[in-house]
Amino acid sequence: MRIIRTIKEMERISYRALGEGKSIGLVPTMGALHEGHLSLIRQARRDSDLVVVSIFVNPAQFAPKEDLKIYPRTLAKDAKACKKEGVDIIFHPGVALIYPKNYKTFVTVEELSDRLCGEFRPGHFKGVATIVAKLFNIVQPAIAYFGLKDAQQSAIIKRMVEDLNMPVEVKVMPTVREASGLALSSRNAYLSEKEKKDALILSRALSFAEYLVKNGLKDARRIIKAMRQLIKKKAPARIDYISIVDADTLKPVKKISGNCLIALAVRIGKVRLIDNIYLNGDTLAARIKNLRVRRKSVPS
Ligand code: PAJ
Repeated sequence: MRIIRTIKEMERISYRALGEGKSIGLVPTMGALHEGHLSLIRQARRDSDLVVVSIFVNPAQFAPKEDLKIYPRTLAKDAKACKKEGVDIIFHPGVALIYPKNYKTFVTVEELSDRLCGEFRPGHFKGVATIVAKLFNIVQPAIAYFGLKDAQQSAIIKRMVEDLNMPVEVKVMPTVREASGLALSSRNAYLSEKEKKDALILSRALSFAEYLVKNGLKDARRIIKAMRQLIKKKAPARIDYISIVDADTLKPVKKISGNCLIALAVRIGKVRLIDNIYLNGDTLAARIKNLRVRRKSVPS
């Protein structure tokens, strides 16, 4: 495994690999790797000849008061984990190479970037789309891997790839959780033991919503209200938003149907956490109908 720190060298490696007919899989990350990241890396290893993991804490996606300075940087540990997973290349460029002094070009995915987290983090997804577009150009992957944990980010990247005709397949992998239900996140490192317990309210609220939907509740407003009440009752948490949206357009839906996301962002102390579940309303509706038919046909 090699750690590559310049764009030129990364491009050379990619073009050589492509010339040899090899496929490239890219896992973009900001480092502080955990099992969530590793699940993407493992899939890349299964799919591709050359596996590239980028580690770059992208200043363009942090607002001035956000955690750019204190974001965990653990390159030595990350490199060990990558090596163990059979990664070929870690791409770890410096900020001045990615955003030189005269840098002026940004990618904006309209509408999708303003919804959900976009409302609370203006400019964030512009920074994400820009760095991902740059990484695609530099690394030239056939497949790039993202986590459903950041469902809005994945939807935005998919839109960008389609709109700009980028020759990349975007694979979105399921959220990896602790046994407690807490979604793994590099930002969990900011939580105290007590806050970590409080943070379980995110996955609990989502499980509760899933339970309500499975029991036939479809009305988005009522589901959101029930989740809000549960969170307020159970944990000292500040809710940024709870939304039920179409999984592709991220537009709010009134009723659960088709592919939906129930997404929330909650502040536990000073730490802002996000989580979501993906539901296929139609499959669920069919399952519920089936259940009812079966129940009816069972003689009492
Ligand atoms: P980062 O937060 O490091 O996440 C890198 C990738 O890992 C993202 O696609 C994210 O969705 C995925 N991921 C994080 N936690 C996960 C979990 N618990 N289960 C499954 N996948 C998980 O997201 C970013 O970095 C940046 O915005 C980036 C795309 C690298 C652009 O800078």
